[in-house]
Amino acid sequence: MLEVRHLHLAFDDLVLADDISFQLEAGLTHVIIGPNGTGKSTLLKTLFGDLQPKQGEVLFAGEPLNRKHLEQWRKRFGYMPQDIRLDVGLSVLEVVLLGQLDALSLKLGDSLLEEALQSLDQIGLLHLANRDVRTLSGGQCQMVLFAQALMRQPEILMLDEPVSALDLHFQQVMLDHLDTNTKRNGWVSIMILHDLNLAAQYADNLLVLKNGKLVAQGAPKDILTPELVYDVYGVKAEVLTDSAGIPFIRTQRAGHEATLTLA
Ligand SMILES: Nc1ncnc2c1ncn2[C@@H]1O[C@H](COP(=O)(O)OP(=O)(O)O)[C@@H](O)[C@H]1O
Ligand SMILES: [Mg+2]
Repeated sequence: MLEVRHLHLAFDDLVLADDISFQLEAGLTHVIIGPNGTGKSTLLKTLFGDLQPKQGEVLFAGEPLNRKHLEQWRKRFGYMPQDIRLDVGLSVLEVVLLGQLDALSLKLGDSLLEEALQSLDQIGLLHLANRDVRTLSGGQCQMVLFAQALMRQPEILMLDEPVSALDLHFQQVMLDHLDTNTKRNGWVSIMILHDLNLAAQYADNLLVLKNGKLVAQGAPKDILTPELVYDVYGVKAEVLTDSAGIPFIRTQRAGHEATLTLA
């Protein structure tokens, strides 16, 4: 379990976390949503040890994050930051292999190579293995970085807006893959999303951040309401339920307030 206790984060007088506490259980996908600029990415950086909180603690399996042992702490993480540009002269396969940098020695073992090729194959990117990463599209880059994060076999997987450039097919490939691996391997998976429908579909636990506060947390079906959407985003929306009992959100276009007729 990854735990945050009484976290206080601020840049000068901009407060991004005001006494926030939560526990993220292993084997579940935890999705963070909230308005632009509310501190979601900053929170992930803090969990990774990139930023020092003003107050509060981060713990994994009861062990506190200690900045003296940052390297040890980070070994547990697969972390895909937001808007990464791959500006190095490496192939897709090489970038995926970097996920296992700790295990790479002067001689690359067959098993690592096999694993990297398999992970590319599983997400439908094997045909790109020898491509220079500088020639990839934004969506292809996101998929490659996802494969790299998986290669780490992390205990904690953090994905910051991982689907922002993906088409419908690759959104599903990535998120299904994440879901299956999280449950099978008992990872603590944390993902920031803007698409509330994807959040509702894939979050086992949804955390809603706004103005430095955790304003709601729980299963999407229990917390996603029109009131919450309005409070957090200032947007009027209907929250409907699909045949599997999962909420879906339909925003209203100005001047088109008609409600949906469901078949
Ligand atoms: N190093 C920094 N110094 C000062 N302000 C920062 C720094 N990093 C982020 N911010 C500000 O903190 C706020 C939250 O940023 P961020 O965590 O990236 O938001 P989100 O991911 O929720 O969109 C933004 O207003 C941003 O400009
Ligand atoms: Mg962000």
